Amino acid sequence: MSARKEATPVTTPLRPVALRCAHLANPLAVAPGRVRLSWELDGEGRDRRQRAYQVRVEADGPAGADGPSGAGPPAWDSGRTESADCADVGYAGRPLAPGGRYRWQVRVWDENDVCSPWSDPAWFEVELDPRDGWRGSWISPGPAHENLSPPEGPADPVGRAMAPVPYLRRAFRLDAPAAAVRTARLYMTALGLYEARLNGARVGQAFLTPGWTDYGHRILYQAYDVTGQLGDGENVLAALLADGWYSGFVGFDAKRAGAHYGTAPELLAQLVIAFADGTCQTVATDAGWRTQLGAIAHADLLMGERHDLTREPGGWDTAGFDDRGWRAVRCRDQPGRRVVADPGPPVRVTQQIAPVWVRRADDGRYLADFGQNLTGWLTVTVRGPAGTQVRIRHGEALTEDGRLYTENLRAARQTDEIVTPGGTAAFEPRFTLHGFRYAEISGYPGELDPGDLAARVVHSDIEPAGSFRCSQEWLNQLFRTIDWGQRGNFISVPTDCPQRDERLGWLGDAQVFARTACYNRDVAAFFAKWLDDVADAQLDSGAFTDIAPRLLPRFARTGAPAWADAGVILPWTLYVMYGDRSIVRRHFAAMTAFLDYLERTNPDYLRCRDLGAGYNDWLAPGADETPRELLATAYWAYDAALMAEMAGAIGRPAEASRYRDLRDKIGAAFTGAFVSADGRVASGTQTAYVLALHMDLIPAGLRAAAAGHLAAAIDRADGHLTTGFAGVSYLLPVLSSHGHDDLAYRVLGQRSRPSWRYMMDHGATTIWERWDGWTPERGFTSPAMNSLNHYSLGSVGEWLYRFVLGIEPAPGTPGFARLTVRPHPGGELDWAEGSYRGVRGPIRVRWRRSGTEFALETELPPGTTASVRVPSAAAAQVRDDLGHSPDGTAEFPGAPGVTEAVFEVGSGTHRFTGPAVRAT
Ligand code: BGC
Repeated sequence: MSARKEATPVTTPLRPVALRCAHLANPLAVAPGRVRLSWELDGEGRDRRQRAYQVRVEADGPAGADGPSGAGPPAWDSGRTESADCADVGYAGRPLAPGGRYRWQVRVWDENDVCSPWSDPAWFEVELDPRDGWRGSWISPGPAHENLSPPEGPADPVGRAMAPVPYLRRAFRLDAPAAAVRTARLYMTALGLYEARLNGARVGQAFLTPGWTDYGHRILYQAYDVTGQLGDGENVLAALLADGWYSGFVGFDAKRAGAHYGTAPELLAQLVIAFADGTCQTVATDAGWRTQLGAIAHADLLMGERHDLTREPGGWDTAGFDDRGWRAVRCRDQPGRRVVADPGPPVRVTQQIAPVWVRRADDGRYLADFGQNLTGWLTVTVRGPAGTQVRIRHGEALTEDGRLYTENLRAARQTDEIVTPGGTAAFEPRFTLHGFRYAEISGYPGELDPGDLAARVVHSDIEPAGSFRCSQEWLNQLFRTIDWGQRGNFISVPTDCPQRDERLGWLGDAQVFARTACYNRDVAAFFAKWLDDVADAQLDSGAFTDIAPRLLPRFARTGAPAWADAGVILPWTLYVMYGDRSIVRRHFAAMTAFLDYLERTNPDYLRCRDLGAGYNDWLAPGADETPRELLATAYWAYDAALMAEMAGAIGRPAEASRYRDLRDKIGAAFTGAFVSADGRVASGTQTAYVLALHMDLIPAGLRAAAAGHLAAAIDRADGHLTTGFAGVSYLLPVLSSHGHDDLAYRVLGQRSRPSWRYMMDHGATTIWERWDGWTPERGFTSPAMNSLNHYSLGSVGEWLYRFVLGIEPAPGTPGFARLTVRPHPGGELDWAEGSYRGVRGPIRVRWRRSGTEFALETELPPGTTASVRVPSAAAAQVRDDLGHSPDGTAEFPGAPGVTEAVFEVGSGTHRFTGPAVRAT
């Protein structure tokens, strides 16, 4: 940084805030190997940075079974550590005790070597010992379950395949007075889904726990703080148990998933109560539990839930309930089961939405519109006589004659049913999920007041990280639509769609959307969890699969190019966006096995063998197809390049150089096979050019020519895209990086299909699976495959952040420690503003073109530096707010012949003005 930009004198020290462990705030169960610490820096003024840090971790008494004592020296004192790192700082102290609670703080020295006060404390608790930390057995109603079925079960085959939800309870007394309880932790999991209850109340706010994994490989559990919820006298620990992904309907096999994982759910729980005198009491799942059926006649993720509220055993989960008529549970020890702490964020209800309208049809049915396609369920209040049956069906759209459109749901019923108990009753399902904007309610007794209905939005609780606003309202709507698609599909795993009988963790979809996903929301922990699923699904050959968790046996085959490659692209994306090297280390062996497999299978460095289902550029519109081997080889080269970068990042130079060589060999094979001397790429599809350019497979001297051919291909399509899933995410970034901002904006702004704006113009509130999801000529496209909530084509979100706003990590500097701020103003936009909150805190950008002037403002958190690039008609005339001229000028990549003013800045707010490239 030049001398004239000396740090403005500041008096307030930097303050470490927003402490996180494993990307989570105060996690209650974290594997010792995953304890990575991070913090943001709060501080006024400019050019603020951390010179050194000190982390102190202290045992904080027993939370779980074998917790540390709390006395003695700190578990870890890093001492003053000369480092600017404030993310992905690995714990390096004494071994962490299983079930132990640790309190940690950090202080930092700033650019002037002024030391901050210690931060507010944060905590983490260590997971139970996976080998012998669990005291209980797996319990279930066992074979007696069938005999417990209600006599008048549903008559149809689907209904018969669904089981009622068992209620399980265990009464117990504390070993000491409740006032002596120091901490109480409940650890719970299920093969299936559980809802934990303690003394009549639901425990925690998570739904669909423990989440979806390949249960043969790993089962997640959650930990809850239940201190203060125990009483003197009798206490009752209880749970409901549903099929979920374990034994319910999953995917598009029209049968229960018994064939995939198991046939009936089971529960494992452990309540650990620590008393002030140092003693501990454990209540676990054992033969002392009792079970019975209740109101929930069935509960299935795809099919829906039926509650017969006349059958609810009132007070069943509270003290004093007479459970003599209940049955003993079956106990099973399952020593082979791997039970580990959930590293991801829980699924929660994150929003409630009132209907926009409710109408009554002539046949008495009600129809409600919630104005937004979402994933979740409805809460309904019903007043009426006992035994009234109310039915709620959910759909994403209406037919032309105004009825609920459900054809595209395929076999997923998405139907909830209530049998009313008499009087006023509230209904809310909890073991199902529906993708819907509209609901049809039949059988409702009396008048349905809109206030009796609300939609609950349910998804993995990924916090918002990004924002975007600009002068074109349709683009703001597109931004919201992309985010809603992410919310609706990030449910324990990233699914393709939330409504039909599919909802699978497709790797290709997640891969193309991953960068957008990171900008939109904090998905570090979410993807960390899912990458374990991806690794669990990996085949013995080393190949990654199409979907994770994998459903057997149909998906036990090599994943298609662009799908399987997610196994490499995802860890790299997390590394770049969060500076997360631990994820790279954790998956390095799996990624290496994949790369080895590709090389073994394709010794001539063209990837043309074992392409799995070969989805290619899935759902690309237009007649021309990108050659499969071209797409496959381009992704392979990309994998090798990313491997080289990641190997370097984790200190493996030999592998880095091996992967660079590999990349060069693949690159040479690609160029030889697909690139001609004039820069044309075989087949001439937009996707062929986009992949070749993005993956750096065009010799340097031919890049501009190739980009010109891409531009010509777009012109031939009259300014439309012809990219499918694989090509679409890189299309606009490639155009903007190769001098074609104008075309990028033209493609973006197209009103006729295929285009994003076409979707917006036709009422999309989530991104459609297909460019032609609905057309005036045909209405809804084939119901066999037409989701109206698929995030893949929403991967254009990345371009809004990286190019319209221009927020991008600097090459080679992951985690935004150093970044580039390079907006690409263009199209009809007069202004744009937005932000991204990464691991170092919020980065803001705002720009405006007015008349002949272009003004840019950016705000950077402490601990970051940026190269700010201001495109201008006269770059040398651009000034910052102190009147300084640029540190240099360079060629602006977005448009030929345009230069950019370059300013090297540190943290703080900076403003720049200069002559606009084009007057408005
Ligand atoms: C899914 C996708 C997926 C694809 C594989 C579809 O059924 O909905 O989004 O990636 O299959 O081609």
